[in-house]
Amino acid sequence: MDSIHIRGGRRLKGSIPVSGAKNAALPLMTAALLTDEPVKLTNMPRLADVRTLSKLLGVIGADISVESGTDSDVMTLHAKDIKSTTAPYEIVSQIRASFWVLGPLMARCREAKVSLPGGCAIGARPVDLYIKGLQKMGAEIDLVEGYVHASAPKGLKGAVIRSPIVSVGATHTLLMAATLAEGETVLENAAREPEIGDVARCLVSMGAKIEGIGTSTLRIEGVEKLHSATHRVIADRIEAGTYAIAAAMTGGEVTLEGANAEDFEAALSVLRAAGAEVESEQGAVRIARNGERLQAVDVVTQVFPGFPTDLQAQFMALMTVAEGESEITETIFENRFMHVQELARFGANISLHGDKALVHGVDKLKAAPVMASDLRASAALIIAGLAAEGETTVNRVYHLDRGFERIEAKLSACGADIWREKAKQ
Ligand code: UD1
Repeated sequence: MDSIHIRGGRRLKGSIPVSGAKNAALPLMTAALLTDEPVKLTNMPRLADVRTLSKLLGVIGADISVESGTDSDVMTLHAKDIKSTTAPYEIVSQIRASFWVLGPLMARCREAKVSLPGGCAIGARPVDLYIKGLQKMGAEIDLVEGYVHASAPKGLKGAVIRSPIVSVGATHTLLMAATLAEGETVLENAAREPEIGDVARCLVSMGAKIEGIGTSTLRIEGVEKLHSATHRVIADRIEAGTYAIAAAMTGGEVTLEGANAEDFEAALSVLRAAGAEVESEQGAVRIARNGERLQAVDVVTQVFPGFPTDLQAQFMALMTVAEGESEITETIFENRFMHVQELARFGANISLHGDKALVHGVDKLKAAPVMASDLRASAALIIAGLAAEGETTVNRVYHLDRGFERIEAKLSACGADIWREKAKQ
């Protein structure tokens, strides 16, 4: 398996192009199953998760072609005929978002057999909300040998579905299911993450009738049929936030090209509170830190527009060298502190108390060999390595390749001393 090596201590200076959002690209790809006409997605990131989901959509019956541009791909998905309504364990266990084919398959084919999901091991991550929502829309659902068997022989019916907690995946799934259901569906307490808005806008271009985009109540009036559309994937706010934190960690100055500040304002305001300079303009965000040490800031992860759980590990890496003590509370996933023991290998001083981590800033980190435990935690280890004294090796980087496009190339273009060592065959 490849590893990434970093000789820490260099300031980052320059521009980083922000890729298309993984968490929008994946559900947008599944939305292509809703129509027998081609759907064209531009600004697609080149990620392992995109390739894994392509495999699954191919098995289901989508023809997929990819044109490579300089910074992104254009992907055309054409699900003219659905060949199979089964999403097998071998693929769904690799990436959780592939479970989301459940929604479009139920809408278009009225049946689906989808393996229970896998993905990052960051908590129990149940699927009860997806199941209850589809049941309210008239689906019959059984769990058989690790698979969700769902069917609605007479088609899905509109319903009012109030979710007890906000779930991104359940919102994507029920939104897509509702586009072709009979009558009106109202999703209350829906997720408002920017990626949901992006998917909803694509669905509207495909002919769906959706009101309330960007709010926590989505009203969907089912239509007979959806059609072809071309859609540009929004910028990845988590990738942008990760590089913003890396810039604050190393000092220097980085411009995030293509980033939309509104999509990660909570993270930017925390960085400002810690002492970083943040300026945003149309289509770019600039982060700078002069030589001074950052101040510790407390953070609580929340659903959008709160501080995203997907930046919690990276922010913790930053706080390991801040002045003072930072309390980081994780409210979304119950097991999302696996990076703590790896950060400790750099000499970080962190203690865990249930859903809180107390980070006592130290003067400096020292390089260490570390192991990536999940996608966003891998990025936290890279951030720590960029500031640590000596040479850090991050092992098991396949997690990184799932969600960050060419991270070592983007960082080295800004002056970081970072390179990838290919696994020996
Ligand atoms: C998505 C994102 C992930 C992000 C997360 C929260 C993608 C591909 N993944 O994951 O990067 O960290 O949103 O912003 O977009 N829950 C239930 N029952 C359910 C569904 C969820 O209890 O049926 C719980 C989960 O265990 C978790 C919380 O709801 O505690 C939020 O999870 P959810 O928003 O569904 O996360 P994902 O969609 O899996």
